[in-house]
Amino acid sequence: MPSSNFPVTTVQQSRLSRVDFDNLGFGAIFSDHMFSMVYADGEWINPEIIPYQAIPLEPGVAMLHYGQTVFDGYKAFRGLDGEVRIFRPEMNAKRLHDSCRRLCIPIMDAEKLCDIMIQATRQLIELDHQWIPSHWGQSLYVRPLVIGTEATLEVRAATSYRFIIMTSPVGSYFTNLEKGVSLRVEDRFTRAASVGGLGAAKTAANYAASLLPGFESRQQGFDQVLWLDGNEHRFVEEVGAMNIFFKIGGKVVTPPLGGSILPGVVRDSVLTLLDDWGLPAEERRIAIDEVVEAFRAGEVDEVFGAGTAAVICPVASIGFRAEVFAVASASPGELTQRLYDEITGIQYGKLPDRYGWNVRVPVPVAATVT
Ligand code: COI
Repeated sequence: MPSSNFPVTTVQQSRLSRVDFDNLGFGAIFSDHMFSMVYADGEWINPEIIPYQAIPLEPGVAMLHYGQTVFDGYKAFRGLDGEVRIFRPEMNAKRLHDSCRRLCIPIMDAEKLCDIMIQATRQLIELDHQWIPSHWGQSLYVRPLVIGTEATLEVRAATSYRFIIMTSPVGSYFTNLEKGVSLRVEDRFTRAASVGGLGAAKTAANYAASLLPGFESRQQGFDQVLWLDGNEHRFVEEVGAMNIFFKIGGKVVTPPLGGSILPGVVRDSVLTLLDDWGLPAEERRIAIDEVVEAFRAGEVDEVFGAGTAAVICPVASIGFRAEVFAVASASPGELTQRLYDEITGIQYGKLPDRYGWNVRVPVPVAATVT
């Protein structure tokens, strides 16, 4: 049952004319409006759409100290027909719900949260539809965020929260998509504990843990970190901004979900497509030694990442200790390209939405994708 329309306060003056749609980057620009809701006295109240704005926070807010914050990310696309489609938002709502539970945030039930997120996103898109870029590869990134807002230095769950959904017109997350990204295997630091940790939650702590290794990777000339398990630093986990897939000796393999990696929406879409194409992926533990051996034997056909921001991202090379292994196929590999074409084809309405992944939002046709 969809929620009814939320009350709207519109901006006095739009910032749209200041946006350079040819140079969007990723996540630096925020559209005119945001959704806001608060949790106080044991209930979620005051859902509304308001101008995007700074939010008042006391320095004593526990979230700033102890990290009780979760977020998610999904995208809306302006299609070839001018229609706007949101890609699988109900999966992000479910994940946000699970992240809240893990961070002890008293979230509403999953179905209600999903209804609210989709309705809020629809309204934001209707209001800010001119912020949706119109080039292939660009989209409106939707970022829900839930934070504890109680000022207390006690280490416990907050008694008050704010739920915000903001939107941001974006280009691609990685700039070198054509030639593929380089990954450095991290065997000293850990992104998330193997068992019982926060790895499956989209929460600040996992990203905070990734900053120093990410910085070191870039200093060494790599784009991103390839994480290993927190227990033994032996098994491949994920990349932080995306899940990872290998095509080795003709078979596709990806690490299984198990609480330590993020249950990616694009990951799930890839698994569905591969099943349909008769190339089912094996979800199993992959030792980094197995990957290295496969590289040495010339059996690594393709490596790619899958994520909302990253879409399907070819990996060109992997650095492990003193060695750098180049992926054999000229980047992007055939399967990587096919997955990219299929997923973006569905997202931009070029291909039939055979799985019912898109939620359509009617907007005046201001522009079509080019
Ligand atoms: C996403 O793919 O939506 C992410 O959250 C990855 C990154 C931008 C944090």
